[in-house]
Amino acid sequence: MSVDWEGLNARLARSAALVGEPGGLDPDAAPDDPMELFAHWFSDALDAVPEARAATLSTTGAGGPTARVLILRSVGPEGFAFATDARSAKVADLASDPRAALSFWWQPLVRQVRVTGTARWLGAEESARDFAARGAASRAAARASRPGEPLGSVDELHAAFEAAALDDGPLDDWQAWLLEPSTIEFWQGSADRAHVRLRYRRDGEWWEHGLRWP
Ligand SMILES: Cc1cc2nc3c(=O)[nH]c(=O)nc-3n(C[C@H](O)[C@H](O)[C@H](O)COP(=O)(O)O)c2cc1C
Repeated sequence: MSVDWEGLNARLARSAALVGEPGGLDPDAAPDDPMELFAHWFSDALDAVPEARAATLSTTGAGGPTARVLILRSVGPEGFAFATDARSAKVADLASDPRAALSFWWQPLVRQVRVTGTARWLGAEESARDFAARGAASRAAARASRPGEPLGSVDELHAAFEAAALDDGPLDDWQAWLLEPSTIEFWQGSADRAHVRLRYRRDGEWWEHGLRWP
């Protein structure tokens, strides 16, 4: 398969950036609690952005930094919940270094949210609840999966899923996690590049916040 790198990069150069409809950010009206602002932005995103709950989780482990997309399972004053398999690389990373980052890009609103914080397992009960709330296909996939192990063929994957679908029940390897934020940055992009960055940092019980140069 030959690749026209030059042509591809010419198309890349022509493709526009920051072409959404900015949702707006008024720093003077910013609440003291960034989770309140997140709730407003997330509500806007659910209205305007396909799959707004998809976010990129970055971790650091023995192999260095790595990032992957996952689904936000819930959000509240305590932070951001996600769920995954205990045997996955991300769980190994978090076991060795619980610090993590979560980032959202909501293109139609030209908004980015960057979170850093510490992740913790939410326990067996919450994990079981999360697993039970999933659809049948998702449960079968999780039950069949051997995260990160070499796979011989896609047929093998389908066969394992079909077998797993016959045997419904809880899965001990399923884990719910919470990222407790220590910084949250709200980035409202603008076509003229006068992007507004509003950064919150936890300070004990409270949060301090201020603008940053873009
Ligand atoms: C849109 C989307 C949603 C995903 N949701 C999840 C999820 O909720 N949990 C999860 O463990 N992996 C999810 N994945 C798969 C991860 O990106 C990743 O491939 C997998 O978890 C293995 O990552 P790891 O080896 O770094 O642990 C999702 C991928 C995409 C593209």
